[in-house]
Amino acid sequence: MNYQITLLPSGETYFADENQSILQAALNNSIMLPHACKSGCCGACKAQLRSGTTRSMQENSAINLTENDQHEILLCCHTPQSNLSIYLPQYSGQTNQVVKKIKARIDHIRICNHYAVIHLQLPSKKTFTYQAGQYIDIILQNGQRRSYSIAGYNANTHQLIIHVRYHEGGAFSAPIFDGRMQCKDMLQIEGPLGSFQLSDQPKDLIMLATGTGLAPLMAMLSCLSEQHFSQNIYLYWGVATEQDLYDAQLLDQLCDQLSNAKWTPVLSRPASDWTGKQGYVQQIALQQHADMSQYLVYACGNPQMIAQAQALFTSQANLATNAFFADNFTPTI
Ligand SMILES: Cc1cc2nc3c(=O)[nH]c(=O)nc-3n(C[C@H](O)[C@H](O)[C@H](O)COP(=O)(O)OP(=O)(O)OC[C@H]3O[C@@H](n4cnc5c(N)ncnc54)[C@H](O)[C@@H]3O)c2cc1C
Ligand code: FES
Repeated sequence: MNYQITLLPSGETYFADENQSILQAALNNSIMLPHACKSGCCGACKAQLRSGTTRSMQENSAINLTENDQHEILLCCHTPQSNLSIYLPQYSGQTNQVVKKIKARIDHIRICNHYAVIHLQLPSKKTFTYQAGQYIDIILQNGQRRSYSIAGYNANTHQLIIHVRYHEGGAFSAPIFDGRMQCKDMLQIEGPLGSFQLSDQPKDLIMLATGTGLAPLMAMLSCLSEQHFSQNIYLYWGVATEQDLYDAQLLDQLCDQLSNAKWTPVLSRPASDWTGKQGYVQQIALQQHADMSQYLVYACGNPQMIAQAQALFTSQANLATNAFFADNFTPTI
C-alpha cells in the first residue's frame, strides 16, 4: 500500500510503499533528503515525526531513547504505515537534481598501497550533473550496492573519478586489487546521491579526511577553485603510512590553484624518519586552531574520527554546532 509523505517546512509531498524505507522512496522520487549510510549508523537522516505511524525495519542505533520519546526517527530505517508529516528543518526543498542509473566503463585504475584511484567513462549522450561532496552507488551483479564519493567529474570528457580503499574480501574493492576487475569492464552506477555539500557562507574552512575521505574534499577544492574562493582553507589528511598518501601530487596542485589553501599530511603509523605530523587529524587540527568560532568544518571518512572531531571542536574550540558538516563512510555490511 502507498502512503503520502509530507515534508515540513518545505510542504513537498511524495508517495512511499509500506515496505520501503521513507528515505529510499524519497530518493527514488529524486528527492535528495539528507542521508549517508542508509543503514541506521550515522544519524544523517534523523527527522521528527509530526503525524502518522511508522514501522522500524531495524534497531535505531543512531537514535537514543530520549530522542525516541520526542518522535525522532531515522528515515532510512522506517517504513510508513499511514500518511505521514515529517519535520526536516535541514531540508529546504527540491533541488531538481535527477538521480540516474548509468552504465560506466572502467577507463583507468591506479593502485597505490591500499588505495585505488579509478577513472570511469560515462556515456557522452547522458548528461551527469552533481554537487561537489556527493557520491555514487555502484550496483554489483547480485544487486548489492557500494557507495563511493565523487572525487571529480569532467563534463567535457565525461570521466568520473572515485577513490577506493581495499577491504579484505570486499565485494567491490577486492576484485579491483586482485585484477578480477580491469579496464574496459562495465559497471552499473547510480547517482548523484547524498547531501554533503559546500555551504555558501564565506568563512575560513577546516577540512578533515581519513583515507579515501579525501575524495569529496578534492571535488570541493576544485569547485572552490572555480569560484575563486579567497578565504583560508586548512586541509588535514590522515592515513597510516607515507605510502598511503596516494594523491599527494594532485592535492598539491589543487592547493596551488587556490589563493590560501594548505594541506597537512598526518600519519598514524609513520616510519622512524618521518618529520611531519603524527597522530590523528582531529587532534592536529585542534592544536593548530584553538578558536574555531569563525570557521566551517568539513569532515569525511571514518565515523569515529567524525564523532570525535565534532565533540572536540564544539566543546573545546567554540565551533558552532551548525558549522560542522560531515560525510560518514560507514561500511555497507
Ligand atoms: C556516503 C558514503 C560514501 C562513501 N565513499 C567512499 C569512498 O569514496 N571510498 C571508499 O573507499 N569508501 C567509501 N565509502 C565506504 C564504502 O562504501 C564501504 O566501505 C564499502 O562497504 C566497501 O565495499 P567493499 O566491497 O570494498 O567491502 P565490503 O564487501 O562492503 O566489506 C568487506 C569487509 O570489509 C569491512 N569493511 C567494509 N567497509 C569498511 C569500512 N569503511 N571500515 C571498516 N571495515 C569495512 C566489512 O565489514 C567486511 O568485513 C562510502 C560510504 C558511504 C556511506
Ligand atoms: S542513519 Fe540513516 S542515512 Fe545514516
